[in-house]
Amino acid sequence: MIRCTVQKEIGKMPQAQAYGFIVSEGDLLTQTEPILEWYPHLEDLMRVRSFTGKKQQVLIVPVTVNDQQKELIFVGAGKPKDRGIIDIELYRRAIGTLVRQAHTVYASVVALIVPNGTLFGVSQAELIKQTIITTHMTSFMFDKFLTERDRSGELIELILCGEHIGSVHEIDAIIKNAEIIGTAVNKARWWVDMPPTHMTPPVLAEKAEKIAQKHNLKITIFGEQEIVDMGMGGIAAVSRGSDVDCRLVIMEYRVADKNAPTVAFVGKGITFDSGGLSLKPARSMETMKDDMSGAAAVIASMEALAQLKPAINIIGLAPLSENLPSGKATKPGDIIRFYNGKTAEVKNTDAEGRLILADALSYAVKHYKPDAIIDLATLTGACAHALGPFHCGMMSEHDELVARVQEASHYSGDRVWRLPLHDDYKTAIKSSLADICNIGNEKIMAGAITAAHFLQHFVDDIPWVHLDIAGTAFDVPDISYLRSGATGFGVRLLIDLAMNWQKSK
Ligand code: BES
Ligand code: MG
Ligand code: ZN
Repeated sequence: MIRCTVQKEIGKMPQAQAYGFIVSEGDLLTQTEPILEWYPHLEDLMRVRSFTGKKQQVLIVPVTVNDQQKELIFVGAGKPKDRGIIDIELYRRAIGTLVRQAHTVYASVVALIVPNGTLFGVSQAELIKQTIITTHMTSFMFDKFLTERDRSGELIELILCGEHIGSVHEIDAIIKNAEIIGTAVNKARWWVDMPPTHMTPPVLAEKAEKIAQKHNLKITIFGEQEIVDMGMGGIAAVSRGSDVDCRLVIMEYRVADKNAPTVAFVGKGITFDSGGLSLKPARSMETMKDDMSGAAAVIASMEALAQLKPAINIIGLAPLSENLPSGKATKPGDIIRFYNGKTAEVKNTDAEGRLILADALSYAVKHYKPDAIIDLATLTGACAHALGPFHCGMMSEHDELVARVQEASHYSGDRVWRLPLHDDYKTAIKSSLADICNIGNEKIMAGAITAAHFLQHFVDDIPWVHLDIAGTAFDVPDISYLRSGATGFGVRLLIDLAMNWQKSK
């Protein structure tokens, strides 16, 4: 756990083992003046080392101050682009690089000379928030099963200092809120990284229950028998092959205002996806414990939102199941009926995500009539192939909701890219035996889009955005503040969306 503190006095350097500076290309020394006293030849050294502030460039300068060894760590954020602004994502990556570099020199107390938010097109409060969330994310490690844990050199304290700190109002509240968000992201990552036999539907549902008790959220958890009895044929069909029972978790955060809008977050929670009888090849199955990343994001976001208290009602739904083959498993050719009465032919038991989501979406529509629905699902390999690990797929017919999600995406760092949810693709999931078929036909291809069309049958006319996070949830390379394993994708996005819902537009 990282402690985050503030040194408000300008011009005085706090006690730390390392001092971090984020510098933009071409504007090197505006933020480095305070330490010229410690190292007057800084400019020369930078020239000799060709340090120009290019993105991700690093310069570490050891200095001795009052007989103490300290490190100055400079990280480049790159060149300002349009309107003189550097993308805020490059700031997050510079912070990630700084935290990693501090680790390599075993600096556990680091002072960050906070730059001016306007350089990155955000308020100072937002910049500080992003600093803290990103620091938390960079420090995450999943070491539960390592016999010899090595946490030496781990960051313990981050001190925010410099001229751009003093004027920020309510900085303590900003820090506290950012810590809540960073903690939520890492909690979702922890659940996803847990081995699938440890993180089963009942276990994850129990995590949700503990959270609800702690933060006074209403929670409803349906077990397998109730799910069958209620006619949720999708969740039931997927869970049939497994010895472990499924769950449907519904968490509610409510505000006093009777006119406040209600938004539903729905997350796919397949705690392990073997493919079922349509068994996956071994290599594709290796990372399938990550198939509950959507559910983890929703549950972790609910915990954060219960503390951050947005001005709207939020309903978090997570259908949880294992997808395994057995003598009881659903077979290709089976026909099932969902909670809203529609039927589907299951041609491929590996397209199971849409089956459990269909019931959860129907339940949200029937019982909450939300003003908007956002679902997150590691739904298709097709989406991961189309967009790779750096953007999730976004499919929706509601431009206004899309605009909200795009804005939240930009500020939060969970990046989305819209794919067309056009009527032309609808015929791909036609079935001659049931209302729809759970896989698209081969001529139309576009597996991410046809999966979204399947889900569309369960949201009625409610504004809805589907996010396919198959590519972004796990093992994202080359981003300094992530590591191999779970990314917590969606947590920052959902929280930003909820917190800014009542603003503008
Ligand atoms: N969980 C997978 C999707 C996935 C693939 C997530 C790669 C993360 C990385 C999903 O349940 C699945 O297997 N989808 C099938 C659908 C197909 C049978 C229509 C797929 O993408 O192959
Ligand atoms: Mg079962
Ligand atoms: Zn699957």
